Amino acid sequence: MAIRTIRIDEDPILRKISRPVVRFDISLHTLLNDMEETMRNAMGVGLAAPQIGILKRIFIIDIGEGLIEFINPQIISDEGEQVGDEGCLSLPNRYGVVSRPNTVTIKAQDRNGTYFELTKSELFARAICHENDHLDGKIFSDFVIGELNYTNNEDE
Ligand code: NI
Repeated sequence: MAIRTIRIDEDPILRKISRPVVRFDISLHTLLNDMEETMRNAMGVGLAAPQIGILKRIFIIDIGEGLIEFINPQIISDEGEQVGDEGCLSLPNRYGVVSRPNTVTIKAQDRNGTYFELTKSELFARAICHENDHLDGKIFSDFVIGELNYTNNEDE
């Protein structure tokens, strides 16, 4: 496994549309393994492939319940609303309030190409929406309610 460079700030690749995965082969598995190592190294709870410069429809999430890999994901329904703070490894030291569905149902493929469906709420649902947006070149700061804030560190 290898830690890849996380693209940040105004990197134009973060604004591009990712393409579907068609080959579920060893190079996909290497990419997924590298994404996991990169996410854990950065202490993130989610990472989308475009964040490491790979324009493929892939993201991973681990909010503390174990890693789940989502390939060619589609949110097929959502319900309710949650409003809360959000951040992103691609916008270091910033956070802001974003409205998201409280529950989402998502269909995706695993690393072997097998389809699965999951219904998740609260933080996991927020992470799904956030990571799925990355595949369409959208970043949470596009949707922040009020101000984008800076964490209390050297930026203050
Ligand atoms: Ni993000």
